[in-house]
Amino acid sequence: MKEIKLRLAILLVLATLQNASSHGEQPLSRISIHKATFALHELAYIQASPTVLGLRGENTEWVTLEFGSKNPSVDDWIGVFSPANFSASTCPEENPRVYPPFLCSAPIKFQYANYSAPEYKDTGKGFLKLQLINQRSDFSFVLFSGGLLNPKVVAVSNHVAFSNPDAPVYPRLAQGKEWNEMTVTWTSGYGINEAEPFVEWGPRGESMRSPAVTQTVDRNSLCGAPARTVGWRDPGFIHTSFLKELWPNRVYTYKLGHRLFNGTYIWSQTYHFRASPYPGQNSLQRVVIFGDMGKDEADGSNEYNNFQRGSLNTTKQLIQDLKNIDIVFHIGDVCYANGYLSQWDQFTAQVEPIASTVPYMIASGNHERDWPGTGSFYENMDSGGECGVLAENMFYVPTETRAKFWYSTDYGMFRFCIADTEHDWREGTEQYKFIEHCLASVDRQKQPWLIFLAHRVLGYSSCISYAEEGSFEEPMGRESLQKLWQKYKVDIALYGHVHNYERTCPIYQNICTNEEKHYYKGSLNGTIHVVAGGAGASLSTFTTLQTKWSIFKDYDHGFVKLTAFDHSNLLFEYKKSRDGQVYDSFRISRDYRDILACTVDSCSSTTLAS
Ligand SMILES: [Fe+2]
Repeated sequence: MKEIKLRLAILLVLATLQNASSHGEQPLSRISIHKATFALHELAYIQASPTVLGLRGENTEWVTLEFGSKNPSVDDWIGVFSPANFSASTCPEENPRVYPPFLCSAPIKFQYANYSAPEYKDTGKGFLKLQLINQRSDFSFVLFSGGLLNPKVVAVSNHVAFSNPDAPVYPRLAQGKEWNEMTVTWTSGYGINEAEPFVEWGPRGESMRSPAVTQTVDRNSLCGAPARTVGWRDPGFIHTSFLKELWPNRVYTYKLGHRLFNGTYIWSQTYHFRASPYPGQNSLQRVVIFGDMGKDEADGSNEYNNFQRGSLNTTKQLIQDLKNIDIVFHIGDVCYANGYLSQWDQFTAQVEPIASTVPYMIASGNHERDWPGTGSFYENMDSGGECGVLAENMFYVPTETRAKFWYSTDYGMFRFCIADTEHDWREGTEQYKFIEHCLASVDRQKQPWLIFLAHRVLGYSSCISYAEEGSFEEPMGRESLQKLWQKYKVDIALYGHVHNYERTCPIYQNICTNEEKHYYKGSLNGTIHVVAGGAGASLSTFTTLQTKWSIFKDYDHGFVKLTAFDHSNLLFEYKKSRDGQVYDSFRISRDYRDILACTVDSCSSTTLAS
């Protein structure tokens, strides 16, 4: 018994430490759900309507709650539980709570009872509108007293459900391993013993079917709490279909299907995408890059210190400009679920209009991967016990092995080399070899625009914490890699992790290799480093120190867009999420011979022999 108590104490301390180290970024982690007790009061009530959602096939709907309490308080709150029957009769072994009342899972969202009804604290009556998405289960709503730290269940609502909770939802496209292959990943409630998943697709007027593979994530494949405990929620079935031998640039329509074994079909709505250009193709190509967007709730729930106010703005700007975007890179810290698995569904719902139309390529960040003792390069708890498993399953990436989250992908005149900063990248490692191969193997005459992407800042940043360390980068970030960037003439390296925007001069070994700021003609002689981690998460402060290499800084939410007009002309733009306007930009104009030209350390020494 003593041992159990000690273990519980250690778990609670660890949970507290975890909150401290993750800066409370996941709002659900503020709720002490393991301390919840039942105090049902016969005069308290909560009613939800309508009870059936998605009657016309919608996967996002609003519900209205009406509720009342005899002892109202300003810290009363409402939690949304899904599945609706949240009071499991037994808590899993690993839950810190091993005795009644058996509240084993965190809500999927929460809001204070007085959010829409300031009079609630006096009248004891209130209402609230919440947005729900279809995520494979029914919902119930619970009125709590006692604040977030000592929650007491005072009333439980009727159940609400989507008409087909298992429906195939939230398709996300990603480039396959070949340039002419598009992958479609989606989520449903249909396992392989119930239905065959497939994509029906084709250019206009034609259609064919391609089967999909199905993956699941179970609790035992995760690494710790809260992912294995109060944050656990069944992520459903995740399907991926590989659409091959696409005609470059052609528009394809597709829909997700499940053929039940009784012969009936379940369909999603119809979507479309444009197939990628072939490597080297000379045409207009537009790429959006950002990190750390996270998710945000349109109904104002799950709010924490204005944490992710930028996230919905960024999403809105991208949707508005979608016809002018060909591919998106979200370079790590994808949704900050931090072990609260329900949030992955909500993120894929938020980005659905984007990810279902253009390839949505992700990189791995600390909030996807890091967990002590699991082989991550950093031994912190930022993934909330997910240790990469959710990111590796919810999104497709053309890696060799998804646990090693580095890959390359070509898009027309661009070659992208995407590193995984949560695994060692230094000289002598497997990842270093991959990076060198990715940079070295591109034919710059066909693909002149060589871009390096990574989550943490391996290059240069004036973020206050990096400046205080004196490194102006992630420690050991560029020491090994800068000679590769220089040798293989990487044009631009972009990072997230630091939540602001910053652009450097073309630089090599701390020295600007080019004095120009906005229009680069000919050889850059170095690499331009960009921090683009301001897509949504709470902003990071800059140092007041002014370095020679920092050309433009912005403490705001935003994202980057690259436009290649042809093999010789590239436009770089930084746009703010609040208005979609351009606040920083530069151009590169050059010819192939400028890439061939030798600069400092970019060619091996020549011989005098003739
Ligand atoms: Fe990060």
